[in-house]
Amino acid sequence: MTEKTFYVTTPIYYVNDKPHIGHAYTTIACDVLARFMKLDGYDVKFTTGTDEHGQKVDKAAKDKGIDPQKFTDEVSQSFRDLVRCPSGGGHNLLNCINNDFIRTTEPRHKKAAQALWKRIEDNGYIYKDTYGGWYAIRDEAYYQENELTEKDGKKIAPSGAEVEWVEEESYFFKLSAFQKRLVDFYEAHADFIFPESRRNEVMSFVKGGKDFEEGALKDLSISRTTFDWGVEVPGDSAHVMYVWIDALCNYLTSAGFPDDMDNFTKYWGTQENRKAVHVVGKDILRFHAVYWPAFLMAAELPLPKQIVAHGWWTIEGEKMSKSLGNVISPQELVDNFGLDQLRYFMLRAMPFGNDGDFNRERLAEVVNADLANNIGNLAQRTLSMIQKNCDGKVPEFGEDNTDLLEEVKTILSIDNRNPGSYFSNMRSDSYKHSIGFDMALMDVMAASSRTNEYFAENAPWALKKEGKLDEMGNVLYHTAEAIRRIAIVLQPFCPTAAGKILDQLAVPQNQRMFKHLTDEFALQSGTKLPAPEGVFPRIEK
Ligand code: MSP
Repeated sequence: MTEKTFYVTTPIYYVNDKPHIGHAYTTIACDVLARFMKLDGYDVKFTTGTDEHGQKVDKAAKDKGIDPQKFTDEVSQSFRDLVRCPSGGGHNLLNCINNDFIRTTEPRHKKAAQALWKRIEDNGYIYKDTYGGWYAIRDEAYYQENELTEKDGKKIAPSGAEVEWVEEESYFFKLSAFQKRLVDFYEAHADFIFPESRRNEVMSFVKGGKDFEEGALKDLSISRTTFDWGVEVPGDSAHVMYVWIDALCNYLTSAGFPDDMDNFTKYWGTQENRKAVHVVGKDILRFHAVYWPAFLMAAELPLPKQIVAHGWWTIEGEKMSKSLGNVISPQELVDNFGLDQLRYFMLRAMPFGNDGDFNRERLAEVVNADLANNIGNLAQRTLSMIQKNCDGKVPEFGEDNTDLLEEVKTILSIDNRNPGSYFSNMRSDSYKHSIGFDMALMDVMAASSRTNEYFAENAPWALKKEGKLDEMGNVLYHTAEAIRRIAIVLQPFCPTAAGKILDQLAVPQNQRMFKHLTDEFALQSGTKLPAPEGVFPRIEK
């Protein structure tokens, strides 16, 4: 298959609560990746959505005295408002290019989850027994006795969630049959799980320690009978599916499984050419990197290409929690700082995979230094000088006597896409530690700083005073062309502002992809430019 397709997914969010910056972070990261791949010439499928079944959502609805369907219809709206919702009703606060929004209560999804179950069952990996064990509703996860601690007479899971004893008839998934196959797979595919430290954790969990210990993976209870808010188990209406098997299946549903297998193969890929990248928080890595590949192996379906886990944000040094009252809504940040500024900060401020602290003062500092003072100021000064002194047209140029454009090319590695460059940090086949959003942005800033230096050293305002108008035009041309390149690579992160800079340089809409970074598509002297306006205002304290 030669088709350049790419599939990226966010986790689907539980609708027991309102969206906060943790959710916005995963979604923004996926959007940046989706936009990057699109600018690189890929046909991109980007999906997100809501996880609406399970005991946690059922309980949240009951606590409010509302029917779960009505409850999820209402609460999932606040998640639809963050992104595009192709079926209608999304406000796209985060300016995402997702082309699906999936709700697990939709008929297409129930059908897919049941088809997945049937395939696993037909292959002999599901059996019925009685389950007795500890369950944490908050995590929607089962725990072993030896993983628990006690607090105030209550049993507590490693995540801090309270567990309860459940005992019921249940279907089981033969996870134990996949221990060896999973380990073999991780070992053969070093780029399956990022970051590397998390890959090691997953490996040692599945191996049962450093060396392989037979029996480390226990079979998994995958159905419940004590409530009915879920997808019915095919052929047994007394059971609903365990919410995680239902939820993980959303990635297949969205790609067209089981009815549209052409589309499915196009985006999900094949075993030889796996395409899906799942971006998830570190807390849900085990579900994605252990259970999910095992379910897929059991169903004889191709695996995803990559699972990338990111860290968690604390808020001004504290864990974000309702009881502390420090939960931040994405809307508040967008209103106060601007969306492109928020997108930039979240991906620049900490390496993807690390934990980090969210602090409004730091956001203002980073945004002012990088966006307002570095790129914004450069664009504004250059474009205003062109407007005033060059009749509002792209000036004529002579030689690039300082090789500015060559330097910008090298910094961004436009010609050869060096390892360690903007491109290799962003492309899924060349990650080193994880997706290098922060490193890629450092390259963009380095290119902008270099252009600022060139502008200051060549002082076009002084050339004007001295009457050296050709020389002035030459400097302005090269600065503007460097800005064109910088704006093109800034687009995935700050799509609106970078788009405005390109508009002000009169770059046609169909010449804004990475393949247009070359000299061939450089600014044309004589092109009329619109009146400039600032795109990155300074944030005042
Ligand atoms: N419904 C499951 C996912 C199913 S995917 C098949 C779920 N939902 S969630 O709403 O609880 O969490 C969704 C994501 O938000 C997770 O990736 C989680 O890591 C992320 N975050 C929640 N709080 C966060 C922070 N404070 N910081 C960063 N991300 C955080 O889990």
